[in-house]
Amino acid sequence: MSIALIYPQRDVSDWVAALQAQEPELDIELWPEIRCPERVEFVLCWNQPAGLLQQFPNLRGISSFGAGVNHLLNDKSCPVNIPLARVVDPDLKQSMAEYVMLGVLVHFRRLADYRRQQELGEWLVQKVPHLSTIRVGIMGYGEIGRYVAHKLTDFGFKVHGWRRNRQHRDKLTVYTGEDELGEFLKRTEILVCLLPLTVDTENILNLQTFRQLPQHAYLINAARGAHLVEADLLAALKSGQLCGALLDVFRDEPLPGHHPFWKHAKITITPHIASVTNPESAAVQIVENYHRALRGEPLHNRVDRGRGY
Ligand SMILES: NC(=O)c1ccc[n+]([C@@H]2O[C@H](COP(=O)([O-])OP(=O)(O)OC[C@H]3O[C@@H](n4cnc5c(N)ncnc54)[C@H](OP(=O)(O)O)[C@@H]3O)[C@@H](O)[C@H]2O)c1
Repeated sequence: MSIALIYPQRDVSDWVAALQAQEPELDIELWPEIRCPERVEFVLCWNQPAGLLQQFPNLRGISSFGAGVNHLLNDKSCPVNIPLARVVDPDLKQSMAEYVMLGVLVHFRRLADYRRQQELGEWLVQKVPHLSTIRVGIMGYGEIGRYVAHKLTDFGFKVHGWRRNRQHRDKLTVYTGEDELGEFLKRTEILVCLLPLTVDTENILNLQTFRQLPQHAYLINAARGAHLVEADLLAALKSGQLCGALLDVFRDEPLPGHHPFWKHAKITITPHIASVTNPESAAVQIVENYHRALRGEPLHNRVDRGRGY
């Protein structure tokens, strides 16, 4: 029995080392040089080629290399009867918290204005409100969203969340479902999208959503590119409904060279680096899930195919 790693255009030697550090005898196959597909019982994959997962007749479990699973849910060759897991990891949450904190602080302390002033040789003090009055709304109050929200709260920002289902143990104010989306947006000066991409959340960052935010709100999208209607962002920036955006994810990645976002003065772009899975910290749960799959036990961090995350 073996575990196959499928990650096109990525050197996975760090993953191999991390997995073997957990279990030196682990039999690891590396796509595209899979010697014996019949022996593969667990697959770890990211952006796998279409149809590939059908080649493993004895598969017992599948895991994403990261937190997202759209590449698996959208893959018709991904067997529906095989349990699917994703990575939920403290390092991933911490890294995302750093990214969001960076975006919030750069915006709130007006670093872009100072950069422009520097270019003009201008010494001018910009007024900023007290941080405790800045209202940050976390759209997607899940594993990562909750951690980010608590880090921002600890730092002193006013934070609230939005999720699908109410949970009574939520410590912050959390709005739920379509019915409370308007209330959530009305109170949000910095909107942070950390939703999974599902049929309900695709295109959710649109003009109708932006119009419910206070004027000159700021957007951070670190979830998935398809959450955002790109033309609506451009329109909202033009009208002043939004004053700027930090984007880590895009519909087409890498972002095409001619894309209007590249040169937009109010948009900051990063190349999908907000939070990258650290093999060393994630390897423990992958090896654990591998053994759970072999024993026929439920996987940790299992994905619910019905709800799409
Ligand atoms: N850019 C990067 O580098 C990077 C890195 C890691 C992750 N990500 C992305 O970050 C996102 C969040 O990951 P995660 O691990 O935190 O996901 P998660 O634990 O599954 O959390 C998802 C959250 O979204 C909420 N949600 C789902 N559908 C909703 C809907 N229709 N309406 C309202 N709320 C809804 C869920 O509500 P309930 O709690 O009520 O179920 C949950 O709170 C994913 O898109 C992932 O791909 C990006």
